Amino acid sequence: MLAGLSPYDYLAHHPTTGREFDLFMKARSAAVGQDLAAFDFDHVRTIADLGGGLGGVLAAILRKHPHLRGILADREDVLDRARDHLATQGLADRIQLAAGDLFDHIPQGAEVYLLSSVLHNYSTAQGVALLTAVRRTIETGGRPAEVWIVQGMLPGLAGQPSPWYSTDARMLSLFPGDGVQDRDAMFRMAGEAGLRVRKTIRLPASQQTLMIAHP
Ligand SMILES: C[S@@+](CC[C@H](N)C(=O)[O-])C[C@H]1O[C@@H](n2cnc3c(N)ncnc32)[C@H](O)[C@@H]1O
Repeated sequence: MLAGLSPYDYLAHHPTTGREFDLFMKARSAAVGQDLAAFDFDHVRTIADLGGGLGGVLAAILRKHPHLRGILADREDVLDRARDHLATQGLADRIQLAAGDLFDHIPQGAEVYLLSSVLHNYSTAQGVALLTAVRRTIETGGRPAEVWIVQGMLPGLAGQPSPWYSTDARMLSLFPGDGVQDRDAMFRMAGEAGLRVRKTIRLPASQQTLMIAHP
């Protein structure tokens, strides 16, 4: 907590730090976007990027796959900063913005629900709650959809080197959650939310792991 604020509230109230965080995230999002844009999306019409930030990941996917539409869901202050960025890339009419807290509302209507670098902000119980809300949204929608979770994951055996230990330390110092988890913990989280993991894929550019799950 920063001066009593959550990290995202702090960034919203401190524009200079907020701009620095945006620059950091743009570089991170570019790598994830490069990784995900390489996938086959022929069976998909709409991707909902939950906690999609400034939309860098979604934009990279939509630029490469012109048939796709996107839903970018994030806090209102973040989407206010994303709007111009998407317009300059000519993507404003292909991306619907969904402002609000993901714990209150998950937008309907996608075949892929993406959560990239979001769950590490939360506790295991909150992660299960968020994934459960996504599963219920898919079930209510009544048509098949997948949940794509992109996360750095710690190695299962303590002592193995991993770039994600430093991210874990940063998350634990900033957020009152459980930080970066290992692969088994992520499987358990998905399972407790009523999701079955179909596969996991190591992403080369971002060094993160993509976990594809479905209800
Ligand atoms: C670390 S950034 C990841 C951005 C993007 N998904 C990526 O991978 O580049 C996490 C994002 O999740 C958003 N977020 C976290 N919790 C949220 C919540 N409860 N409701 C809405 N947005 C949330 C934050 O505002 C932030 O933009």
